[in-house]
Amino acid sequence: MTAEIIDGKGIAATIRQELAVDVKVFHAETGVTPHLAAVLVGDDPASAVYVRNKQRACEVAGMKSSLHTPPAETSTDELLDLIQRLNEDSTVHGILVQLPLPDQIDELRVLDAVVPTKDVDAFHPDNVGRMIQGRARFLPCTPHGVQELLRRSNVEVAGSHAVVIGRSEIVGKPMAALLVQKGDEANATVTICHSRTRDLPSIVRLADIVVAAIGQPKFVTADMIKPGAVVIDVGVNRVDGKLVGDVDYDAVREVASKITPVPGGVGPMTIAMVLRNTFTAAKLSVNADG
Ligand SMILES: NC(=O)c1ccc[n+]([C@@H]2O[C@H](COP(=O)([O-])OP(=O)(O)OC[C@H]3O[C@@H](n4cnc5c(N)ncnc54)[C@H](OP(=O)(O)O)[C@@H]3O)[C@@H](O)[C@H]2O)c1
Repeated sequence: MTAEIIDGKGIAATIRQELAVDVKVFHAETGVTPHLAAVLVGDDPASAVYVRNKQRACEVAGMKSSLHTPPAETSTDELLDLIQRLNEDSTVHGILVQLPLPDQIDELRVLDAVVPTKDVDAFHPDNVGRMIQGRARFLPCTPHGVQELLRRSNVEVAGSHAVVIGRSEIVGKPMAALLVQKGDEANATVTICHSRTRDLPSIVRLADIVVAAIGQPKFVTADMIKPGAVVIDVGVNRVDGKLVGDVDYDAVREVASKITPVPGGVGPMTIAMVLRNTFTAAKLSVNADG
């Protein structure tokens, strides 16, 4: 069996086009242009590329983006002041703080300072709590992007056994929480694996759906995959100047039924979901005013 490739780049482009239509209608009805404010501290080149991609995608979808670039030596208090100004600016609907932040910054204090109604990354405890309770305002971008990929690739999630490898706050934990919810593209039986999991390969071998979010090239090998399983590779690693995922792609492709490539799989979906959340935030602001 050679797995079908799940075209994240194409699916994300479709979502962005759908969004552009919705944004146009929304603007015609309300006069409001959804606005994402990105905060990029310092001059890390990889972070700058991520932010630029998100900004460009915003503009193509008819949304406004603005960039705030405090210097690398900024203090936590200075960054908190900037976040406060963006919280109070009624023309800003979404605030995105690009991670990682420099070591001297208290990252949790900064992320917690973003008002939950503008927290388009869905990192704030208020948004995490709402997601766990199944009454989300925004869904976290990468896990929600994976869910959309599954939906638009006609993967039957309900009743399946999904194994998520990785338990980070940004990917692994929220991914598991979304897949286990009562709801569409959910209702899975979920197992989470991490670095302390005993005999991880034998657990992954039970999975109908594998989501790999570890950060190690070729971590998931073909012998860990049940024939016909769906494999979603969230990992982004640089090897010899090339981007690769966490899955041994060529070998796993011969065993799985569907697989995401890196690049062109989950990455573009994360950006599409940031845009969708920004649009949701703009709609929320209008409803709050009305
Ligand atoms: N495509 C996208 O849009 C996107 C978005 C976010 C992240 N990513 C990528 O996804 C990957 C994961 O990101 P992250 O933020 O979740 O990373 P992270 O915070 O470093 O978490 C990695 C997880 O993998 C687990 N792990 C590490 N080594 C392991 C091992 N030998 N066996 C089993 N589990 C192991 C860790 O377990 P412990 O908890 O036990 O340490 C941890 O839970 C990275 O490559 C990142 O670049 C991609």
